[in-house]
Amino acid sequence: MDLYEYQGRDVFEKHGLPVLAGGVAETPEEARAIAERLGGRVVVKAQVKVGGRGKAGGVKLAADATEAYDRANDILGMDIKGHTVHKVMLAETADIVEEYYFSYLLDRANRTFLCIASVAGGMEIETVAETDPEKVAKIAIDANRGVDEALAREIVTAGHFPAEVADQVVDIAIKLWQTFRAEDATLVEVNPLAKISSGKVLCLDAKVTLDENAGFRHADHEALEDKAAVDPLEQAAKAKDLNYVKLDGEVGIIGNGAGLVMSTLDVVAYAGEQFGGVKPANFLDIGGGASAEVMANGLEIVLSDPAVKSVFVNVFGGITACDAVANGIVQALAMLEGRGETVTKPLVVRLDGNNAEAGRAILDSANNPLVQRVDTMDGAAERAAELAAAGK
Ligand SMILES: Nc1ncnc2c1ncn2[C@@H]1O[C@H](COP(=O)(O)OP(=O)(O)O)[C@@H](O)[C@H]1O
Ligand SMILES: [Mg+2]
Repeated sequence: MDLYEYQGRDVFEKHGLPVLAGGVAETPEEARAIAERLGGRVVVKAQVKVGGRGKAGGVKLAADATEAYDRANDILGMDIKGHTVHKVMLAETADIVEEYYFSYLLDRANRTFLCIASVAGGMEIETVAETDPEKVAKIAIDANRGVDEALAREIVTAGHFPAEVADQVVDIAIKLWQTFRAEDATLVEVNPLAKISSGKVLCLDAKVTLDENAGFRHADHEALEDKAAVDPLEQAAKAKDLNYVKLDGEVGIIGNGAGLVMSTLDVVAYAGEQFGGVKPANFLDIGGGASAEVMANGLEIVLSDPAVKSVFVNVFGGITACDAVANGIVQALAMLEGRGETVTKPLVVRLDGNNAEAGRAILDSANNPLVQRVDTMDGAAERAAELAAAGK
């Protein structure tokens, strides 16, 4: 889960990192009130989960509270790289002398944590890495050792930070690692880490990504979720513990096992090309041991998507054998009817694996006119795509 800058700033403050006072506003009036509280002179910053806000005109200085009102008025509603601005953060202004870069991240490719630090910050680190690679330090962090003072000093030297800020950056490097670890983050990025005219070093931007898999350890993380921005179908699915991702096509997908569902998306997209480019409408993995109820919940979510014109249920029987899944589908459809949800969209079901024959026989004898059985994955994908195209 990516955080907004204002949330990242709060997380930094909680862990003792040097940040400026700030507040978040959804209206120009709120922005003015916060600016007054902060002493008038502020920076007004668009809160969108995308970088390069400064360049896009989403970061503006205001000399007093009235100007803060005007700048907030300009920035709220702006579109930055496809993200509409609904909130602005107001912060005290800093008299910046130098801009540095500092981050910790999960380096999946190398199966480790990584620190990236550079004396050349403010701009995108990817650009610096291309133009001045010698200025960018990349140091792997051993999860067991973490970042102690000795390692923090190594990072500061490798990043070419000037001597006069070394001690402050060492302290920040240690605290930022503690933040990264304590919050179960996969990214904490400070760009710019800025030296101001007094000589003090401050975190002026905060980009934080939290690992949702560790959410159970952090009761406070749920409140950071932007409920309004989450797709309503994804939200409904989450409430039912379903592993669902909304996509933008027309063929609803239900499968058991993430790998099978991923390849189902591929074969449906491929098959859809010959039917005017129909595509998968979602990812939904109901898992290995799916009961009739889980199947019913899954079908309910997928069928409630108005974009869905047909559904492809692709199951490879394993621990839960195909006969149990077939019974699940039959019961699920009855359950939905029972809940008053009239199912009108066609379902293409492919059952293979453990007890496939028994499963197919159950579907055949239920003889539901909406259910079509196709026994190969490619054939079923093609049929589902064809039905979706016909239903458009
Ligand atoms: N509190 C502040 N006071 C003065 N200038 C700031 C402040 N915060 C950010 N800036 C300036 O605006 C630039 C862009 O802001 P930043 O928060 O890094 O947004 P983004 O990375 O999305 O462009 C910074 O590099 C810095 O020069
Ligand atoms: Mg930045």
